[in-house]
This record gives sequence, C-alpha cells and structure tokens, in this order.
Amino acid sequence: MLKEKMLNAINEQINAEQYSAFLYLSMSAWFHDKGLPGFANWMYIQYQEELTHANKLFNYVVERGEKPELKAIKQMPVEWEGIIDIYEATLKHEQHVTELINNLVDIAIEVKDHATQSFLQWFVDEQVEEEANVTEILDNLKLIDGQGNGIFMLDREMRGRTFVDDTVTE
Ligand code: FEO
Repeated sequence: MLKEKMLNAINEQINAEQYSAFLYLSMSAWFHDKGLPGFANWMYIQYQEELTHANKLFNYVVERGEKPELKAIKQMPVEWEGIIDIYEATLKHEQHVTELINNLVDIAIEVKDHATQSFLQWFVDEQVEEEANVTEILDNLKLIDGQGNGIFMLDREMRGRTFVDDTVTE
C-alpha cells in the first residue's frame, strides 16, 4: 500500500519518464533526418533507457499493491536549431528530471515511506550519471563548435553505444 500523495507523485513520474522516452525518440528522428545515424542511435538508446525507468516505477507501484495510473503524454518538440542546441535541451531536461526525482524523495520523507525512499535512491544515482554523460558530450560538441570533421568522428563513436537495461540488478 502507498499513501495517496506518494502514489500520485509516482504516477506523475511514470508519465515524466514516458515523456522523456518520446522526447529522445523525437531527437533520434531529427538526427536520422540530418544524416547522423550515430547520434540517432545514441538517442534511440536513451529512449529505450527511459522506457525502463518508467517501467521500473510501474512495477514498483504494482509491487506495493496499487494500480498505476497512466496519463496522456504531452507533445514533444520535433525541431531543434542544431546539435549543440539539442544536447543543451537534453541536459536541461535531465536537470528537470533530477528536480522531479528529488521532489519525489522529499514526499517519501514527508509521508515517512522508507521503502519508497530506499527504492528512489536508484533514480537519484541514475540522474548523476545521466547529467554527467550529457555534459561530457556537450563539452565535446562545444570544443568542435558543433560542426566539421569532429562531428563525423563523434557520430562514428556514437554508433558504438549499445542498450543495457540498468534497472535489472539481479
Ligand atoms: Fe529517466 Fe533520463 O531520466
């Protein structure tokens, strides 16, 4: 059983993670359209990861004997000005998700839900990694000013990213 305030907040987070997934899928489409399959692959893997985040929350709600409530996913952007702009938007979005996760932890503390507080620690740690990964790519992109041969090389590097489900620990 979950307190109503906790359940509502987790349901909102399921929606936020699903939105994140489709935001990155939209970015993947943008990169395909620009002829950058490596960056498109990176974003597609990001999309897959976000779905696992949403599902981890979904399964937790079920485990606690409650019914997850799925909500409409708002329209995500489909256009960006360039590669630096897209990664700046990604970083900003991840910083926003970090705030949402911190807010969830605050609610868990407020309603004295120690189990949920412990469960959320995985997300707290994941956000540190997410922000660090995006910041590193953004720094690389700024070094090459988002253009030229550097982009070609980075795109090749991005092709090597493979999907690993980090939510599965055992
Ligand atoms: Fe699930 Fe990228 O936050």
